This record gives sequence, C-alpha cells and structure tokens, in this order.
Amino acid sequence: MKLILFGPPGAGKGTQARRLQETHGIVQLSTGDMLRAEVDSGSELGLQAKEIMEAGQLVPDDLIIAMISDRIDQEDCKDGFILDGFPRTKPQAEALGAMLAEKGLDIDHVIEIKVDDDAMVKRITGRFSCDGCGAGYHDEFQKPKKDGVCDQCGGTEFTRRADDNAETVSVRLQAYHEQTSPIFSYYKEKGLMEEVDGMAEIDAVTEQMNALLG
Ligand code: AP5
Repeated sequence: MKLILFGPPGAGKGTQARRLQETHGIVQLSTGDMLRAEVDSGSELGLQAKEIMEAGQLVPDDLIIAMISDRIDQEDCKDGFILDGFPRTKPQAEALGAMLAEKGLDIDHVIEIKVDDDAMVKRITGRFSCDGCGAGYHDEFQKPKKDGVCDQCGGTEFTRRADDNAETVSVRLQAYHEQTSPIFSYYKEKGLMEEVDGMAEIDAVTEQMNALLG
C-alpha cells in the first residue's frame, strides 16, 4: 500500500504514520525526519536546509524531490510506504506522479488529517521525542507512562525540535495553507482524497484511519 498523509504542522501525521508502520508493515517516509538527519550529519543538504527549516519555510522543491526519489528506490519501500510531509507543493506532487509512473507504481490512499489552526500551537510547543528510538510524546496529550522514561526503549534523554515554537508555527501554518492545500484538488480529480477528524483523541484518529485503509 502506498499512502500520502496530509495535515498542518502538529496534525498528528508522524504519530499516526508510526502506528500504521507497525500495524500495516509499511515504512514511514518523513521528509522532515530525513532533513533533520541531514542537518545533524552536517551534510551539504543539511547545511542548505537548516536555516530554512528553523524559519518554518519550505526547503526548495528540487532538493526534496531528489531526496525522496532516492529513498523510494530503497529495498524497504518495495511493499509500500507512507509519505509524511511530502508532497507539499504542486511541483512536488507532479514530480511524485512522474516518478511513480516511471516505476509502474501508483498511490492507493491520500488522507488529510483535519485540525483547527488554533489547536496547533499547543500541540507543537508540547511535543518532545526520545533520543534513543524517536518515539513521540506530548507534555499533556501523550505522556510517557513513567515520567522521564521512554515507553518504547527505556531511554531517559529527550529532545524538542528547533522549529517547535509559537513564532515558527504560524509561518509553517501559512506555508501549509498557501502551498500545500492547493494540491488537494490534484488528488480530488484522481478520486483519491479522503479525510479524518484530527481533533479527536489519538486512538480515535487511528481507528478512523484503519477504517479507511481496510
Ligand atoms: P515536518 O517534520 O514534516 O513538520 P510538519 O509538517 O510541520 O509536521 P510536524 O512533524 O510538526 O507534525 P505532525 O503532523 O507529524 O504531528 P505529530 O504527530 O508530531 O517538516 C519540518 C520542516 O521540514 C518544514 O517546516 C520544512 O521546512 C521542511 N520540510 C519537510 N518536508 C518538506 C517538503 N516536502 N518540502 C519542503 N520542505 C519540507 O503531533 C504533534 C504533537 O501533537 C505530538 O506531541 C503528538 O503527541 C500530539 N498529537 C498528535 N495527534 C494528537 C491528537 N489527535 N490529539 C492530541 N495530541 C495529538
């Protein structure tokens, strides 16, 4: 199965993608995670992306398209993948269509996680993740069972993202509404666009997803 998850910053794309990865056995491809790994490694791409990401703006299409094209060719994607954070612009959507057509592949589901803009600042500023395994948490909505200890790996070191602050959230939301939402019509025309209520609790959103994916 090949799936695209849309949703504004903090909608729950990463949270749901990690769950679907486990239950459906398909790999999560998060362009945000890939870019953060490039930044951490100090690569040329990371150096180009760092300031743009910290400002909440979008990294140039050509860099993103090359990165995802290479990733989709890897062995672990052969049974399917969840695109989390890509495509984000019309050129990215068109490039994805062309690269999949060339490989004889097609997208099966496109799901938008719908949330109110007002809820996003709280979601984003309360988010943190485990340094050991990357498991995601929230100060209020998804606390570890034992304070300060990761449920998944027992790690005790956690990180908050450099772009997770109230100022950057508004720029990221603006990018979503101006550059990403307009590409929904591209997938509507293909009869692929579906949505879930992302204002529901995390487990309830997962149930809605599973109902759509079968
Ligand atoms: P990226 O990493 O993709 O960030 P984003 O789209 O802003 O999305 P987030 O990761 O912030 O949120 P999410 O929807 O995954 O929410 P999460 O599940 O963590 O991109 C970062 C940057 O990289 C971009 O700004 C851009 O610069 C660059 N970039 C990436 N892709 C690009 C592309 N294709 N083109 C150009 N540039 C690109 O949930 C958030 C929090 O809320 C968590 O703490 C979670 O526990 C909690 N939560 C989740 N669901 C719920 C719920 N239902 N109820 C209550 N709390 C919830």
